[in-house]
Amino acid sequence: MVAVFIPKEPEGEWRVAATVDTVKRMIKTGATVTIESGAGKGAFISDDEYKAVGAAIEADRAKGLADAELVLQINVPTQEQVGQMREGGSLISFLWSFENLEVVKALNARKISAFAMDAIPRTTRAQKDDALSSQANLAGYKAVIAAAWHMRKIAPMMMTPAGTIKPARIVIIGVGVAGLQAIATAKRLGAIVEATDPRPETKEQAESLGAKFLVVEGVEVKQGTGGYAAEQSDEYKKAQAAMLAKAFAGADAIISTALVPYKKAPITITEEHVKSMRAGSVVVDLAAERGGNCACTEPGKTVEKHGVTIVGDLNWPKTVSVNSSDMYAKNVLNIYLDALNKEKKFEWTYKDDIVDGAMICHQGEVHHPKVRELLGLPPLPKPEPAPAPEAKPQAAAAAPAEAKK
Ligand code: NAI
Repeated sequence: MVAVFIPKEPEGEWRVAATVDTVKRMIKTGATVTIESGAGKGAFISDDEYKAVGAAIEADRAKGLADAELVLQINVPTQEQVGQMREGGSLISFLWSFENLEVVKALNARKISAFAMDAIPRTTRAQKDDALSSQANLAGYKAVIAAAWHMRKIAPMMMTPAGTIKPARIVIIGVGVAGLQAIATAKRLGAIVEATDPRPETKEQAESLGAKFLVVEGVEVKQGTGGYAAEQSDEYKKAQAAMLAKAFAGADAIISTALVPYKKAPITITEEHVKSMRAGSVVVDLAAERGGNCACTEPGKTVEKHGVTIVGDLNWPKTVSVNSSDMYAKNVLNIYLDALNKEKKFEWTYKDDIVDGAMICHQGEVHHPKVRELLGLPPLPKPEPAPAPEAKPQAAAAAPAEAKK
């Protein structure tokens, strides 16, 4: 029986890592679940609703953390929180370890098994656990809604007795998880949609959702690994900027989602582009968290530059906290369920490639190869190869042949 604790997320976060449904399902497996009082408030889940499915409510966060064998949360824990966690316990959370090495060191010093939601391998089996995708999908939707709200125009074509209104034109930069949902949402609103991405496979994906794909021609595209884009050359960036200039000049809104793993977001919308855009048009920069795709973005703010509204809000998933909590909680529940062994006991195993990829530190050892490198630790020895199946004794192997004689 594992003791699970769900702390209240930091001020300003509206999501929560467990919902009534996921708490119920964890309790069904034999877990005891304790919720910090008020943890569900931002997603409109009351303490009483959690209590009704068997959770305990704890007002004292330090006590909840100290008693828990498994802590489930969304935001990176603070040093103070790590200090309050039970030694040898487990944590499932976003960690962004490369940028939070001090937190990793603190977790490791307390022998905490830290499973990072941002380090889950992008494999087919891991899709049910992938919170980067579940949250990006919702962000892509909400970005289009925000653009529609800020535009002083409607998105669909309308034929009325007072005349015909032309549909809005929306350009989507980056056709990953967020970009694909942005295309689908903009199409559902009735806009004309154009999209671009350096990964060639995205052309078909964008077109299948009804967008016109804009190709950067005549330059080499650098291919990344693991399905991600690589940082593109200056030559590509120049050609992309020239190609996009025309699309931007005719656009009513741009939704930009372009990211390259572990890098600052690429600038795909220059100040010159912004100057060329129609007055009253809108840029929603989903990459603001990593600096922004637009040269005029001010992360965390909505500003007006050269007559264009530039939305640099952070944490889009929290604005749909009911759905994003639900999706995140389900991602976490799936990880928890997969970690139950045959005896239904919660136990991490590196035989599971998802655990192997996402476990940052475990039992006092930093496990993640890249994090080890950043901390100046030598690589871990390669695991022993599995023993070969035992050879059958000669006599026994020969026996059937003997019998045939
Ligand atoms: P992301 O959030 O890292 O990047 C967003 C998009 O920006 C990407 O499509 C990228 O190609 C694009 N981009 C980068 N530089 C650009 C530039 N200069 N101009 C325009 N666009 C640029 O990516 P995300 O959404 O997390 O997914 C990326 C890949 O991972 C995709 O291939 C997706 O299919 C795959 N994936 C696989 C999953 C799984 O199998 N479990 C789950 C989620 C994604």
